[in-house]
Amino acid sequence: MSTWSPSSWHGLPILQQPTYPDQAHLQRVLTELKNYPPLVFAGEVRSLKSQLAEVSEGRAFLLQGGDCAESFSEFHADNIRDTFKALMQMAVVMTFSAGLPVVKVGRLGGQFAKPRSSNDETIDGVTLDSYRGDIINGIDFTKASRVPDPERMIHAYNQAASTQNLLRAFASGGMADLHQVHKWNLDFAHQSEVSEKYEDLAERIEESLTFMAACGVTSKTYRTLRETDFYTSHEALLLPYEEAFTRKDSLTGDWFDVSAHMLWIGDRTRQLDGAHIEYMRGINNPIGVKAGPSMDPEELVRIINTLNPDNEAGRLNIIVRMGADKVGDGMPALIRAVEHEGQKVVWSCDPMHGNTIKASNGYKTRPVNDILREMQQFFQVHKAEGTFGGGVHMEMTGKNVTECIGGAFQITEEDLSSRYHTHCDPRLNADQSLELAFLIADTLKESRK
Ligand code: PEP
Ligand code: CO
Repeated sequence: MSTWSPSSWHGLPILQQPTYPDQAHLQRVLTELKNYPPLVFAGEVRSLKSQLAEVSEGRAFLLQGGDCAESFSEFHADNIRDTFKALMQMAVVMTFSAGLPVVKVGRLGGQFAKPRSSNDETIDGVTLDSYRGDIINGIDFTKASRVPDPERMIHAYNQAASTQNLLRAFASGGMADLHQVHKWNLDFAHQSEVSEKYEDLAERIEESLTFMAACGVTSKTYRTLRETDFYTSHEALLLPYEEAFTRKDSLTGDWFDVSAHMLWIGDRTRQLDGAHIEYMRGINNPIGVKAGPSMDPEELVRIINTLNPDNEAGRLNIIVRMGADKVGDGMPALIRAVEHEGQKVVWSCDPMHGNTIKASNGYKTRPVNDILREMQQFFQVHKAEGTFGGGVHMEMTGKNVTECIGGAFQITEEDLSSRYHTHCDPRLNADQSLELAFLIADTLKESRK
């Protein structure tokens, strides 16, 4: 294989990129970004990798979740806090029921660039370039707003920096203390069946904590009771931005993408001869690869070989997103091919992207039942193949949005318009996420008996 550098992807076939009208402006911004401080440290990335290695051995579970697309307009401490709380809730449900450590990774602090199924969008006879995420252009349907603007990368970096800063504060400053387990229940969620189930579990955790305190195990004496490790991730789609944050670790001389702990390659940009695979193979971060229904088993094996030639555990996460109706037929062949080669990967399930439908009133939505069904089938297939279904990758928020239909509150198509805030795909709200967490916890518990 040819030598790698942060820019060796230049000139290779590349999809889903904006065309900046002013190249000199783009270069000025990239030069500036190259001097900006890293958002994560290589040592943290190495810890995440070793925790993911545990997942690949079946000794931990990966929980990855957050926005489909972060946006400049929805940027608010309350939104970050509530997503953090919802993830903590999910994690504690899984940890307590299944007795497995949960590796927590947010789709946060940099999840701005979006691949689109079409390059343009037509409304009432007017055709404009598609919205590609706030790091590239604006969502407003005006000609000016849709022009890619490099300054948006600086705005995105600053927002990512303050988001990651707040997440670190939450993770280590008391918000993640297990004694807060009741407070993670989000206010709006109090009456539903699933939140009652959560309150029962929180009660049991409190009892256990009281017992442990009597034995001398307290938040003061044990860091893991008062703090958690919380990592960040996003799709590494906009390669000029990622390249600007590709830095050499001074301790090891290895290259890292320091814009997030973990990066993933989308289902639309995973071509073996393409720029995205070339870029990703050289960075030492843990990497996700989305695998949709069109993923061929041989192709997956080659992608894994290219991205992880040393078969390092914890390096690769295959995120299967086939849809509830396809995963049962499509996933076994992928698992068998990878197992046959002895390739070490973390298998996780993205039960969101294969289950998107258009409601009769035009809203893009996802039925919670299909999401739960895909997750269930993911576990069933792994059980049948004798492998470990080790993670979930989801689009969710701690806010009480109405974007996915069904779930504990039985959100209907008519409800979608009331609190539909996503800038891209429909997310699970806190209650719906919790429902998914219980399903995962129950399945893991069962399989560990
Ligand atoms: C996403 O995760 O938001 C996404 C676009 O996913 P995929 O690449 O699987 O379609
Ligand atoms: Co999405």
